[in-house]
Amino acid sequence: MTNTNSRPRRSSLYMPASNARALEKAKTLAADTIILDLEDAVAPEFKDSARDQACEALALGDYGAREMVIRVNAVDTPWFAQDMKSVCASKADAILVPKVCSAADIIEINAIMDRENSGGPMKLWAMIEMPLAILNIAEIAGMAHSTRLSGFILGFNDLAKEMRAEPDASRAIFLPAMAQTIMAARAHGLIALDSVYNDFNDPAGLAQECQQAKAFGFDGKSLIHPAQIDIANREFAPDDNKIAEAKAIIAAFSDPENAGKGAISINGKLTELLHLEQAKETLALAGAIEGASE
Ligand code: COA
Ligand code: MG
Repeated sequence: MTNTNSRPRRSSLYMPASNARALEKAKTLAADTIILDLEDAVAPEFKDSARDQACEALALGDYGAREMVIRVNAVDTPWFAQDMKSVCASKADAILVPKVCSAADIIEINAIMDRENSGGPMKLWAMIEMPLAILNIAEIAGMAHSTRLSGFILGFNDLAKEMRAEPDASRAIFLPAMAQTIMAARAHGLIALDSVYNDFNDPAGLAQECQQAKAFGFDGKSLIHPAQIDIANREFAPDDNKIAEAKAIIAAFSDPENAGKGAISINGKLTELLHLEQAKETLALAGAIEGASE
């Protein structure tokens, strides 16, 4: 199944919800998605104030067309119940839940959302960062049809810790998890975002990870620092060659000479109706990016 939602999600910037300066700065940043974090980026003594601050910022703030997501604390923490209550009553577009392990987790969280956000459109995104989540990824993704689940974000810092892995720059250790996650996401129409790149002073390394994730089919990358936004926005957008190629494919299939043909040759390359569909998706995404930057 193709994800028909062509809203750009090239860049998703995490920020500690305890950091008032970051919440304010977010209104000026070119990130497609802002993730206000109540979990790992917030120390225990600030959990309650960070939650209040995040919900208040959404109530007051002008975040424009940016998609606003709040990451709550995990289900087994003392903060989860109040996080869900408050965030469900907020203006967030989605709740991101960490440490999801199974379809049963999604059912439980979805039931809370239905109770606390009854009738509301709020979506559920899941962090894919536990070994069990990778093992259960197909059944978790399948919940997209009957619940609010609509997105996955990989979390390789936690996954490495749980695996006791020592990843290198190639991310070879994570390639199976990336393949499984994108396959499950695409099979069930979910958004799929890559993990973070910790070294925010290394633009070349970030660009390389973006290219790798894009090659897999990921929609974008989760980020930790504003300096990473422009790189992800560039790497996950269709480039000029890709746009020109898409236009050429659409033009060729609308040529009366090719009427009724399912497969044609363009510049000596087999081009089929599936490529026409891809070309339309590319232009839709490019149009959405242009629209968002106006
Ligand atoms: N979101 C919004 N603004 C951010 C930001 C973020 N994630 N990270 C840094 N900034 C802001 C800073 O507030 C500072 O703003 P100012 O110039 O107005 O004062 C500016 O960008 C430059 O910041 P810099 O000094 O380079 O970084 P730092 O040392 O203050 O912070 C981190 C470094 C890693 C602590 C910070 O980037 C951060 O908290 N990142 C997010 C961590 C997170 O959410 N983790 C959970 C998911 S993995
Ligand atoms: Mg994590």
